Amino acid sequence: MNTMWGKWGLLLQYPRPKLVTPHRVACHLPILSPATSDNKLHHPLTLQFSTAEHPDRATLTTKFLLRSPESSNPKEQYVNPFHRPSSLSSSSTPTSSFPPPIEIYRCIMALDSLLNFPPYIWLCLILALPTYTLLYDIYTWSRMPPGPLPVPFLGTLTLPRTQPWLQFEKWSKIYGPIFTIWIGRKPTIVISDPIIAAELLEKRSNKYSSRPRMVAMGEILWDNASVLVQPYGKEWSIRRKLLHQALTPKSLRLYKPVQEAEATRLCNELLLSPMRWEKLLERFTSSVVFCVAYGHRIDSLDAGVIGQRFKFMQYSASLNVPGKYKVESFPILKYIPDALAPWKAEIKAHGREEAAANMALVDLVRSDMANAQASKSSITDSLCKQLLELREKEDIPLSDRDFSFIPASLFGAGSDTTASTLCSAFLALVTHPHILGVAHAELDAVIPLSASRTPTFADAPSLPYLTALVKEVLRWRPVAVLGGTPHATTAPDIYNGYHIPSGTTILGNSWSINLNEKYYANPHDFNPSRFLGSSAELEKSRRGGEKGEEPELMQHPSKAGHSSFGWGRRICPGADLASNSLFIALAKMLWAFDIEALEGEEYDIFRYTDGFNIRPQSFRCKISVRSEAHREVLERELVGEGVEGVLRRFTAFE
Ligand code: HEM
Repeated sequence: MNTMWGKWGLLLQYPRPKLVTPHRVACHLPILSPATSDNKLHHPLTLQFSTAEHPDRATLTTKFLLRSPESSNPKEQYVNPFHRPSSLSSSSTPTSSFPPPIEIYRCIMALDSLLNFPPYIWLCLILALPTYTLLYDIYTWSRMPPGPLPVPFLGTLTLPRTQPWLQFEKWSKIYGPIFTIWIGRKPTIVISDPIIAAELLEKRSNKYSSRPRMVAMGEILWDNASVLVQPYGKEWSIRRKLLHQALTPKSLRLYKPVQEAEATRLCNELLLSPMRWEKLLERFTSSVVFCVAYGHRIDSLDAGVIGQRFKFMQYSASLNVPGKYKVESFPILKYIPDALAPWKAEIKAHGREEAAANMALVDLVRSDMANAQASKSSITDSLCKQLLELREKEDIPLSDRDFSFIPASLFGAGSDTTASTLCSAFLALVTHPHILGVAHAELDAVIPLSASRTPTFADAPSLPYLTALVKEVLRWRPVAVLGGTPHATTAPDIYNGYHIPSGTTILGNSWSINLNEKYYANPHDFNPSRFLGSSAELEKSRRGGEKGEEPELMQHPSKAGHSSFGWGRRICPGADLASNSLFIALAKMLWAFDIEALEGEEYDIFRYTDGFNIRPQSFRCKISVRSEAHREVLERELVGEGVEGVLRRFTAFE
């Protein structure tokens, strides 16, 4: 071997001669010393490299059993691949068919080395990976916030199947306001205290603003086009900035007339079919979102575009069922060709259908703009129109497909959430009847019947109780009950001595946060006065009794006084738009109607649906117009220029 060392090290035709690259031997066979090559079939060939640069002494041992394409004699079919066939001259360039690519030699060498391991090494190898993983998981688990004891590799087996926020609230009382649950080997931190949520998700938002990987929904279905599930980074930031530009206070002012007009229409529909109140609320919020997004209204929930949107929403939600797709645990499966993975082909087909529908909506607005330009008229302002105008002025680095997902995201994120919050307001009103009287008193004082009009946004500063009522309903039953789409960390962190690894999923349990007794006295009591300035009533209600009777309540850290719109860089960009819709709909409905419990009907403030966003299970209530004079005002307003004129500018979807 010393001879070989000297020879190989000195031979000038080997660039970087001390580097271990066995394929030189295959490609420069004539230089190979007879001592290292062996013509005997099935004979082991050992090349030993021993050098200071390679202290671990690489030993390559192999039996080469490669078929020569040239020989028809079965005895000669097995050749040493380091031997060039006699028919090839030493100067000839190796062809692609022979010798076979060097990768094949490498694989065979590696495989052969593995097969030659003694059984005890094999046993160690088989046990090493799981043992290492187990020890690593135990180490990670021991440093994270406490929680229910997980089972190695399987995670927390006691995870609730329905309404998880209730069990999480119970666990927060046992394990504290920040605890860990495990979904398989993935840790999820659940936060139940607003100050901790603000500390991590807002003050440390540089580490806590991503989303957990949702392979089936985010990557295969939407191809990362949707802002909602996009990981924190440049692509997310481009979309988020565009959304913000169309939801500035200036833009929100443009949408107010249509919100007022739609709220008046809602009240008129309630006059006609009060029992259909839930569907009417849904139509109202869908129409507002479509007017804001595309400048077209929804006159009926039977409109084709609504059916299509619900279908897309249901399909995407169906992908998010834990354990349904193995690709969530093994993301590499997403690279299987579609032909071999029908489940993936099906998801992609749905994604293409949704993308085509989104692009068709953008095309509609584009043609509205072109028509208006041709006829020298103007069209109504919508988010899509603003973005298209911006695109003409600035370079927006998004494909047409990705661009079309921005206005489309409004429906999924903003319609059902706002309608569900209004449903909770109805439940609050029928279960807390005294609230209606206070709201009526305030509304009647500001907009008396003699004014012959319904409330508008201009009345908001004079309606503090109603403004507080909107905040209270958002707090009382947070629709995005587990904080909406979860956050995820992008870097390791330490909180209160606990380690939080990078890639941890973070859930802000809005149920526990908004109904936390340390912050709100009698949290399940619907009491808008909590949000009323510093009045004596507020002081009393915050303490839950007379001064000194109850311990001081802690102050919720956010300006809104609740966490229903999420936190930090991911906070809901539609919060003000949603609050405006809630305000105007409740102001007009409460001004015109009594919303009361039906005699004999039982109401349960905890009977809520399951799922990502929650709303009360369907219930019946009595909605009656307060007087004939109120009815007249509503009917007159609907046909007046103020409402009809505004709605006429938003053509309806069929
Ligand atoms: C009552 C109504 C609404 C509620 C309670 C609500 C709540 C939420 C919550 C909790 C989040 C997650 C925040 C986080 O990750 O920290 C969110 C995200 C989002 N919301 Fe809303 N939302 C409402 C209405 C709207 C409306 C009307 C729009 C449309 C303009 C909208 C658009 C979005 C978008 C695009 C996101 C994703 C933001 C991102 O991931 O960067 N939401 N919403």
